[in-house]
Amino acid sequence: MNTILVTGSCGFIGAAVVEKLAKRGDRVIGFDLRSNPAFDRLLQRHSNIVFEPGELTEWPQIVDVFLKYKPTSVVHCAAIVGVVNSLASPIATMRVNIEGSLNVLTAMRQTGAKRFVHISSEEVYGPFMAAKIDETHPCFPIKPYGISKFAVEQLARDFAREHGLTVLNLRTCWVYGPGLPRPRVPKTLIDAALDGAPLHIEAGADFTVDHVYIDDVANGICQALDAPAPKHEAYHISTGVSVTLGEIVEIVRDLIPGAQLSIGPGNYAFTKGVETVKKGALDITRAKTDFAYTPKYDIRAGLKAYVAARREERSHA
Ligand SMILES: NC(=O)c1ccc[n+]([C@@H]2O[C@H](COP(=O)([O-])OP(=O)(O)OC[C@H]3O[C@@H](n4cnc5c(N)ncnc54)[C@H](O)[C@@H]3O)[C@@H](O)[C@H]2O)c1
Repeated sequence: MNTILVTGSCGFIGAAVVEKLAKRGDRVIGFDLRSNPAFDRLLQRHSNIVFEPGELTEWPQIVDVFLKYKPTSVVHCAAIVGVVNSLASPIATMRVNIEGSLNVLTAMRQTGAKRFVHISSEEVYGPFMAAKIDETHPCFPIKPYGISKFAVEQLARDFAREHGLTVLNLRTCWVYGPGLPRPRVPKTLIDAALDGAPLHIEAGADFTVDHVYIDDVANGICQALDAPAPKHEAYHISTGVSVTLGEIVEIVRDLIPGAQLSIGPGNYAFTKGVETVKKGALDITRAKTDFAYTPKYDIRAGLKAYVAARREERSHA
């Protein structure tokens, strides 16, 4: 039985990965600041998950977990996530994302763990130079979040070269689906529509990005974890297709009859004064070729599944 440590195990992507690994019979060590009700339910359902609360920047806490469980691989999801959060707390972002990741890499080296699967982001690229890009696109991140993610990628590459770790930097894009923690599209649109409340987003109908459903991301991460001989250190885990926010608004209106949703033209802002840069689609040929990653959800199928999941969640609230 493989022993896999998942950092950020109680977060959006971490919890989805923990569930997949537990279902297939791996021994999973969850590491996060604290648990939450959804993660407690996972713990109750699967006896092969254990949870260790801890802080990524506290070396003694990290190394203790590695010495106690001797994981063979790590799926590293823990981070301060998102451009807006990183602008609000740039120093904490650097500490948690960079120093915390260095702690994990160092503990791996000291205890013999072999594979580091880092959940990275399209933010490492900065503004996209084409409508669809592959992993060779230059990395010029421009906000603290993307800068911290790229620094982790580079540090991990150094550990791969110097200490023989297998490193996979999985660059995903705008992940959506049940459990999405941040008030971001498409969650805001779906929730307003299900509440029967009108929502007008001032601008953003022309902003285009690759949105990927959580189930596809969790599957892709598990496939990368298993890949026998990955040829590259960076892979896209997304859909390979970008859509505009205007198209997403239309699909949600179609899926939830009576939805009062609208969006103005132009570029999207994460929040007032923080505009998105030019983005697009992430080519997924590498992940398809090297470990048979095949996303199942296009945007319509993903939004349909998400609407059904939100209806279900809200019926228990
Ligand atoms: N969600 C997306 O759209 C998206 C897109 C691209 C990349 N990513 C990357 O995927 C990873 C997971 O993102 P997510 O959406 O699940 O975020 P999330 O915020 O839901 O989960 C992050 C988890 O990390 C934990 N964490 C934060 N600081 C910590 C610390 N100091 N010590 C221990 N744990 C800590 C949090 O408690 C949280 O449970 C991140 O590395 C993020 O950069 C996410």
